[in-house]
Amino acid sequence: MSDVRIGIIGGGLMGRELAAVCGRWLHLVDHPVRPSVVAVADLDPAAREWFRQVPTVETLTDSWRDLVDDDSLDVLYIAVPHNLHEEIYTAAARAGRDFLAEKPFGIDLGASERIAAAIDEAGVFVRVSSEMPFFPGALRAYEYARSGALGELIEVRSHFLHSSDIDRSKPINWKRRVETCGDIGVMGDLGMHVAHVPLRLGYQPSAVYALLDDIVTERPISAGATETTRCETWDNALITMRGTSPDHPQRAFPMLWETKRIAPGNMNTWSFEAVGMDAGVRFSTRTPAYFERFRRDGSEQVWEQVQPGNVSAWPMVSGAIFEFGFADALLQMWASFLAERAGALGDRFATATVAEAVGSHRVFAAASRSSAEGKAVS
Ligand SMILES: NC(=O)c1ccc[n+]([C@@H]2O[C@H](COP(=O)([O-])OP(=O)(O)OC[C@H]3O[C@@H](n4cnc5c(N)ncnc54)[C@H](O)[C@@H]3O)[C@@H](O)[C@H]2O)c1
Repeated sequence: MSDVRIGIIGGGLMGRELAAVCGRWLHLVDHPVRPSVVAVADLDPAAREWFRQVPTVETLTDSWRDLVDDDSLDVLYIAVPHNLHEEIYTAAARAGRDFLAEKPFGIDLGASERIAAAIDEAGVFVRVSSEMPFFPGALRAYEYARSGALGELIEVRSHFLHSSDIDRSKPINWKRRVETCGDIGVMGDLGMHVAHVPLRLGYQPSAVYALLDDIVTERPISAGATETTRCETWDNALITMRGTSPDHPQRAFPMLWETKRIAPGNMNTWSFEAVGMDAGVRFSTRTPAYFERFRRDGSEQVWEQVQPGNVSAWPMVSGAIFEFGFADALLQMWASFLAERAGALGDRFATATVAEAVGSHRVFAAASRSSAEGKAVS
């Protein structure tokens, strides 16, 4: 086991999640590295203060450049608002730092391409955060689709639906402003999550037609305030497109990517479904204990439930009969990222790549154009 010293740039919601992940690393069996969070950069003193309880932390600073320039760090985790991705990711790459980037990997397609070019030039190891496919049922659904068992594809759907914006009195924040979240709105927030598995399966998107909705157009400027300000980002995005799979490149099938901040009845539902002429598969985090497979049995059509148990990409001390959740998915994503960096991932599922992040941005850019022009965009 080798030690990996991690510096976090952006100690907000996701930065704290990483500190918690490192604190329970013993859950993993025979992992090649042992990570610890040793430095945190955040502009907000309260955000920095939270990390005082993390025993491994040596440095708290308000300057992200301190961490980019710190040769004692092995890996950075950069989890800041989207308008800062390009500047900080490219600076980290040019300084020769390996890092886990947060989605959407740049505020727009152009930013994502410039970041990718800087990473290519520097030759650093970078992956992009997307943890939901590490649910055991999601992994099994992915593997079943990858096996070729589905035959010629009829339809593919992936969704990420929540309702964190259903409350009109929720105040504005950076994720609801174009300047900081990006013109792509909810697609930037949730889109990488729905793109990861289809792109990993090699499904090539084309002919994008999107319905984008800005439902809540005003929000209070702060908690309890009566004064409101424009809430300008897309709340919901329904992106339809054609996809082709490497197994049947001549046959284009409908592919649907749905990202919603206002989906009544959904707390945080991620799902993937692929149905072909020979079989089908689907998984949803609403029913995390099982995934479903479709087959024909004579004249009968059967959707069967399969319980994969608590078996994700990296072995864990928790037994296979126990249940898996969001925090486990994050642990598994970090296990995958750090094992791949150490050259020890083998054939286990890997974290989203830079190419997949740029590919997802191509779809979001096409979706934005489609919505503006009211037609499909290649
Ligand atoms: N993978 C996931 O499931 C997931 C979930 C939520 C957010 N995210 C992504 O993580 C990133 C951060 O989102 P979050 O929800 O943690 O946001 P957040 O607002 O909770 O945290 C962002 C932090 O960045 C800090 N910050 C802002 N400007 C800074 C600067 N110049 N230098 C240093 N720190 C600065 C803020 O003070 C804040 O503490 C985004 O890219 C977001 O899309 C990913």
